[in-house]
Amino acid sequence: MRQTLVAGNWKLNGSKESIEELLKGVLSGMSEVKSDVAVCAPYVYIPLVEELLKDTDVAFGSQDISMYESGAYTGEISGAMLTDFSCKFSIVGHSERRTLFGEKDADTAKKFAAAQKYGLTPILCVGELLEERENGTTEAVVARQLDAVINLVGVEALEKAVIAYEPVWAIGTGKTASPQQAQDVHAFIRSKIANLNKSVAEKIQILYGGSVNGGNADELFAMPDIDGGLIGGASLKADDFLAICQAG
Ligand code: PGA
Repeated sequence: MRQTLVAGNWKLNGSKESIEELLKGVLSGMSEVKSDVAVCAPYVYIPLVEELLKDTDVAFGSQDISMYESGAYTGEISGAMLTDFSCKFSIVGHSERRTLFGEKDADTAKKFAAAQKYGLTPILCVGELLEERENGTTEAVVARQLDAVINLVGVEALEKAVIAYEPVWAIGTGKTASPQQAQDVHAFIRSKIANLNKSVAEKIQILYGGSVNGGNADELFAMPDIDGGLIGGASLKADDFLAICQAG
């Protein structure tokens, strides 16, 4: 059995004060939680999050990472910098990076490699746009996004990674993929990996993301190939996030 992981993605939200309140709330409910739990914070708050989560069961990470190691790359944050603050995870290839900031499949693959080079666990996001679902290319799109990574780092590298399937039309829209719709894509991802390496496919956690909340998490996480969630909006309130962490 794969362990369930619930990871919060705070996106461009939070302040010193709100983060302290949020994490205190989350920590106060952790005794009821069996899933692994992590939060992905805006870069500048990572030192604060490190301090607040010291000696707790909640892990943390970044929402992105530079594909570069050091040098003249204004505004970038490297894997080495993140591990200086004991980050465990880095989200790579989130659809907002891809659609709003022009990140290409090849860039995501380099970020995946950069994260692993420093011992960070990449949370690789894949998922189709609404028009891609409607024209029947969901699997082709997800396969292309996965192949970019597998071709660069090899399938074995997925052993130390997490995948998040996030249909773009379900992110922040209140429209969730049905458990069966999500399961179908998760099963496709796992079988695609199994064709290359069975044991990696069996072990890898594949999270679902896109309008997960306390009311739908149970049903989603009960599907055989859904191993938890990547949570945006509902990760910003301790009670909502805890309700999801307690599911599954
Ligand atoms: P959402 O975001 O839960 O607000 O839909 C999920 C994500 O973008 O990771």
